[in-house]
Amino acid sequence: MDARTIEYKKLSGTTRLLHWVSAVLIVAMIPIGVIMQQEGLARPTQDLMFILHKNGGVIVLLLVVLRLIWRAAYPAPPLPAHMPKWQVKAASGVQWGLYGMLIVMALSGYIRVRAGGFPVEMLDALNVPAMVPRSDALAETAQTIHSNARFVLVALILVHVGAALRHAVARDGVFSRIWPPVGRG
Ligand code: HEM
Repeated sequence: MDARTIEYKKLSGTTRLLHWVSAVLIVAMIPIGVIMQQEGLARPTQDLMFILHKNGGVIVLLLVVLRLIWRAAYPAPPLPAHMPKWQVKAASGVQWGLYGMLIVMALSGYIRVRAGGFPVEMLDALNVPAMVPRSDALAETAQTIHSNARFVLVALILVHVGAALRHAVARDGVFSRIWPPVGRG
């Protein structure tokens, strides 16, 4: 069998499930975050989008933490030996960059909202107290970080998706090992 067509050890069903649930959530969060601020939106629509965005962001943060714990407990099998070293390093750098930027986005969003004195409905329902003081200056700083960090996050997502598509086209087993744990999985 050609080395490039070998089926590499698949990632566990839990790893693939966590990956795709977070991917769908994150891809939805970005346009919702931009659209919810547009003028001319009906108030109930805008309120609903804010609620979805804020609470979705908290869920993204929890998923990232869960994924990091899962990853530490069950490290990913190595990438195929035919991949050039620089590609393996770049893939790892982009993945860690994504984890880092998701944490920055979620924490800056949380601080922006809490320091601004606004609710995070899910946490309020669970009686989780605000973990930052009320401060307009802090809210403004967090807003600036949240707004600018999205460009870095989007750039990393584009590189990550681009590389994944290259593997899918090359059919070298890398894309299929992260395929959702349904159908082909
Ligand atoms: C990984 C998770 C998150 C992503 C990818 C994300 C993404 C975004 C994006 C792309 C925007 C538009 C920025 C702009 O137009 O300047 C935005 C805005 C916003 N986000 Fe998030 N966000 C996340 C988490 C959160 C969380 C956890 C909260 C609050 C609990 C939050 C609250 C907000 C708010 C209030 C805005 C409107 C801008 C503002 O008034 O500060 N976000 N978000």
